[in-house]
Amino acid sequence: MRNLLALTSALAMGLPTWAAMPSAEQNGLVKQYCAVCHTDEASNGGLSLEHYDAARPDPTLAAMMLTELNNGAMGAAGKGVPDKAAQLAWVESTKEQAAGASEWVVHRDSGTVSAAIVRAVPPRMLNSTNAPLYRMQLACTPSTGAGEMQLTWSPEPQINRSVTVSADSKEPIAYRIDGLESMGNGNTVKTGRASVILSAGRDRKLPLPRHTLVIQSLFDGETVKFPFGDLSETALTELSNCFSQ
Ligand code: HEC
Repeated sequence: MRNLLALTSALAMGLPTWAAMPSAEQNGLVKQYCAVCHTDEASNGGLSLEHYDAARPDPTLAAMMLTELNNGAMGAAGKGVPDKAAQLAWVESTKEQAAGASEWVVHRDSGTVSAAIVRAVPPRMLNSTNAPLYRMQLACTPSTGAGEMQLTWSPEPQINRSVTVSADSKEPIAYRIDGLESMGNGNTVKTGRASVILSAGRDRKLPLPRHTLVIQSLFDGETVKFPFGDLSETALTELSNCFSQ
């Protein structure tokens, strides 16, 4: 009942709200337990959560966060973990925010268009119910031509790996996943990578796919397809200003 009331009052104010935990509370937890590493500067895993706002959720980001919340990330900062009730509420709210992550999420903000989508693959470990996720993100400022295409994955980092990426029927391009990440909070632990930039700035290595982008062998035997053909013609035209054709 309390949740329902919170919901209707927030709806009346025109803000999204989450059955289990108010946005402000989630923002506080993200700041305390996640943003210590996921800063703009360190950008661990290719991700900054410094400006995270649960009141303006991106379903594709929420989906990635959910896999991490279910895989021990809450304790990664070395500051303990929230109490059980808060953990559950945080996970529940993040789950709600992740709805729709398997469809393209397109945003336009101050002259920049961004698009993101996630794809799940079968669990790699026996008895796991957690499907690993891949997230494709593009951002483009058509007026300047500045753009970036990034692939991230969760929950397992990867190291010393060649991954092949094919845009439509064009020649596959190989990317190396090398080097270890240092923790943004100064912790001495190092891990492999959970992100790779596929195209950025002048290095427009990968053409903008019009139909399908296929990622192969980031993990053994894994193939992931991103449905660029599902993007609107408008979004594809805007994005084409920042990537090779
Ligand atoms: C001690 C530093 C540290 C803390 C604290 C931390 N992370 Fe991470 N995170 C990393 C590193 C390093 C990676 C990349 C390697 C990996 O996946 O282990 C990563 C990867 C990720 C990824 C996958 C890559 C991506 O861009 O999608 C997500 C999602 C993520 N973290 C979310 C979180 C969330 C949510 C929290 C808080 C509950 C959190 N992290 C806390 C260091 C941290």
